[in-house]
Amino acid sequence: MSRKKQKRIKEIVNINEIMEIPSNFTTNKDKVNLKNIFKIDQPITLELACGSGEYCLFLAKKFPNRNYIGIDIKGPRLWQANQKRIKENLNNIIFIRSQIQYINSIFKKKSINQIWIIHPDPQPKKENRRLTNENYLIKYKEILMDNGSVIFRTDNKDLYRYTKKIITNMNYHVIYESQDLLSQPTEILSKYYTETKYGNLAISKKLPIYLIEFKF
Ligand SMILES: C[S@@+](CC[C@H](N)C(=O)[O-])C[C@H]1O[C@@H](n2cnc3c(N)ncnc32)[C@H](O)[C@@H]1O
Repeated sequence: MSRKKQKRIKEIVNINEIMEIPSNFTTNKDKVNLKNIFKIDQPITLELACGSGEYCLFLAKKFPNRNYIGIDIKGPRLWQANQKRIKENLNNIIFIRSQIQYINSIFKKKSINQIWIIHPDPQPKKENRRLTNENYLIKYKEILMDNGSVIFRTDNKDLYRYTKKIITNMNYHVIYESQDLLSQPTEILSKYYTETKYGNLAISKKLPIYLIEFKF
């Protein structure tokens, strides 16, 4: 790892807006009290695997009447995300450095209003690591409010097909779906699209972008 990344990992410890979740964070009493984190108590959107946070930062700026949490395991990416948060002077967004498999230890049941998963790693050889496998979806269902939804976006056709099959097999309800998001009308794009690093890579390779919004 480069010195720059090592330095950023050390700096994170002193940044209030990046929470580090220790691996023994497993009991109910430890769960994050979201009401104490944000200045205003308002609906919470979670972005899983947010990387350097482009998407959740964009949403936090666009919708000041909602709170946002970006989760990723990579500290240097969250450090970058926090720099953008400071530049934009946003106080309705924080970041959590954790493995996503721990989210049920971090968040209380039915505490989250919406979950976004944008261009996750496709993990072609390791189904157990795909963020849309059955086990992960069961975890998301537990922390989502009853009317909450998951929005999943990818440029990987196999991951899209895999995810669609799981959603169908588990009888989850598809609210909106597109196999070519960028060719959709402006009102759809303004709801579901903004640039991210990995989204831009897909566009440069002329890959279509798939999107599914679903409820449990
Ligand atoms: C392909 S990048 C996508 C980043 C961002 N969503 C975007 O569109 O630019 C995938 C991200 O997922 C994170 N990630 C993958 N599996 C994870 C896990 N189990 N827990 C936490 N982060 C994870 C990686 O650290 C990486 O930043």
